[in-house]
Parts: sequence; structure tokens; C-alpha cells
Amino acid sequence: MPAVEIKQGIHWVGAIDWDRRLFDELIPLPDGTTYNSYLIRGKDKVALVDTVDPTKEKVLLDNLCEIGAKKIDYLITHHAEQDHSGTIPKILEAYPMAKVVCTPKCKDQIKILLHVADGRIITVADSETLDLGGRTLEFIHAQWVHWPETMLTYLREDKILFPCDFLGSHLAQSSLYATNEAAVYRSAKRYYAEIMMPFRSHIVKHLERLAKYDIQMICPSHGPVYQRPSFIFDAYRDWCSDKPKREVVLAYVSMHGSTQMMAQHLVDALIRRGIAVKPFNLSRTDVGELAMELVDASTIVIGTPTVLGGAHPLAVYAAYLANALRPKTKFVSIIGSYGWGGKTIEQLAGMIGNLKVEVIEPVLIKGMPTEDDYKKIDALADAIAKKNAEAGIG
Ligand code: FEO
Repeated sequence: MPAVEIKQGIHWVGAIDWDRRLFDELIPLPDGTTYNSYLIRGKDKVALVDTVDPTKEKVLLDNLCEIGAKKIDYLITHHAEQDHSGTIPKILEAYPMAKVVCTPKCKDQIKILLHVADGRIITVADSETLDLGGRTLEFIHAQWVHWPETMLTYLREDKILFPCDFLGSHLAQSSLYATNEAAVYRSAKRYYAEIMMPFRSHIVKHLERLAKYDIQMICPSHGPVYQRPSFIFDAYRDWCSDKPKREVVLAYVSMHGSTQMMAQHLVDALIRRGIAVKPFNLSRTDVGELAMELVDASTIVIGTPTVLGGAHPLAVYAAYLANALRPKTKFVSIIGSYGWGGKTIEQLAGMIGNLKVEVIEPVLIKGMPTEDDYKKIDALADAIAKKNAEAGIG
């Protein structure tokens, strides 16, 4: 996409990555992503806010050329991760007078990750400002969104927040703006689940601090620009709240059908009790979808056969993922089938130490489920309903 003028003297000069399907060799990106970079011109100085992934450095340089950016004084570097910082060396080469502006921790990171020379870096304190001439950048240190060195920038006169990864979304689209809020909501929620949720307590504090600012536009480093900031702030406040919804995520895998039969019975039993349930067959699941459902769910049930004396590796991965993402889940249980023994329950229960959850009595059965086994599944559904009711989760 060519450069876009957001306001007089402020341009988006980033890159769209329509084809990227995996981030950090880990996170699926069904809708691609963008690396947003912004050029801000004051009367005296010019600042570039973040760069782009190094695979797109030519796009950034072409966009800067297109809008006649002959000088850059400051390269505002919010975050050292390479999808934003990776083109810093190229920008410093193309603009020899430019200085990187970042937090002290970020300085350490870009020196070790990108070998940026010490003399090309200026560090700024929390709340420090930088005058571009009629335009003032205020820097807001914001640790753990999602690295420890991150900062955000508030452009005072224009009331624009540049929050880097925070509040963003992995969504490639031809419009710069978040006009289709339903589509952006799903992408932003998925992004929150995969990247921000483990840092929920920090995110809550950053949201509280930002509530004191008059913000009329949000220009994140991934995904569309928000012209209605309350849309994404309200969504984040909901996702970050301590109140889960009465929803069950059932993440299961089945080798020969017995665990599948149990999972299907549990789904029906929960639906009969008016409890929302989202089953994920782990042999086919997009883990991003699973992560997104974990944002709100009060209850996680893991379904697994016993294989080589323990849980199936896909169930182990689901437990690991839930533990790493630290959702606000309150209850966990396990269902599954075994042939001759094993340590499935002990193994999975031992993997979720980060979660502040109560374990509801698991249902592990021998072989294919019998009528008695189905009654145990019904009892599990009753217990899930009762626990949620007692916790006031509606
Ligand atoms: Fe978009 Fe943490 O980098």
C-alpha cells in the first residue's frame, strides 16, 4: 500500500504483509499482518515512529521516498522485536543524522539484537517529552506489552496514541482504518489472546494510565488505525477483566474414538444445561482459535486418551498453552479413556500451576464408554454447572 496521510504532516509509511501465515514460527496468522510505521513532521524536526519487518524494508524506504522524506531526526523505537526494529540499521544508513529514541532497556536490546552503535541511540525516561516544533511527543514506558523494554508515544497536539504492539491486530486489509469493527474485533481478540493475555495484570495498569489521556486516534504497529478509540479500549477492558463467562472450552484428542464419544456426550450434556461450550478437536485445531476462546471461558476441560503411560502429546500441548497464556479460567477438568493404566491426570494437573483454578473431579474410563461412564460425564456437566453458579458466573 502506498503512503497514506492520516493528518496534515502525519503519514502512514508501513507495509502490508498479505502472505505471512506464521509469526515467531509459532503463531498462526490467518489474515496476514501489517508493520505500521508513521512519519511525523514538526516545524523543526521529523520523527519516524517504528520501522518494519526487515523483509519489507524496501517498501518502507519507497514510501518515505514517495512522500519526500529527505530527513529524519528521530527514529522512535517503541520495542526491540525485529518486526518493528529490524529495519533500524537500514534507516540509520539511509538517514545519517537520525538518532534512535527508546527506553534504556530497549537500548540494551537493540544493541545486542541489531548491533546498533551506542552513539546513534538516545534514551528517554518515562513521561519525557520531545519537541518537534509545534508537535510534542510524550513517551510512556509500558513494560510487558509484551516485552520488558516497551514504550508508547502520545502525540499531544493531535491527541494520537502510538501504542506499538499494544491494542493491535494481525490483519492485512486495503483500508488503513478499523471501519469494519466486527472483523477487527476478532483479529484484535485473537492477537490479545496470543500475545497480551499472559501479561493481563500489566495490561490492566496500562489501560488505567491511558484512561487519563485525551486520545482521539490510535495508531498501532499492527493492523488498522482506530478512529474510535473507545471500541478497542472497551474490548480490552472486557478481555482483561477478572470476570470469566459461563463458557466451557473442551480441548480434546481421540485415537480410537472413545475419548471422542465422551467429548460428544459432554458437549450435549452441557448444552442441555444451558452452558455454552466450544469443542476443539486438537488434531485439527488452529491454536489461535483455541487461545481466543480461552480469553473468556470460566472452565477448561481437556480430553485425552492415555498413550505411552500419559496424556496424548496434543493434549499436553493444550495444557502447556493454557498454562502459558494464563487466562482467567476458574475451573479445569479432564476426561479420557485408557487401556491398562497410566498417569494422565497427574501429568496434566501438574502442568497448569500458573492457573488459579479448582480442579473438578476428572472422568477417566477404561476402554469405550458404557452407560455408567456416560452417567459420570453427566455428573461432570452437573458439577460444572454447580461450580459456575456458586461462583456467580452467569
Ligand atoms: Fe510486533 Fe512484539 O512485535
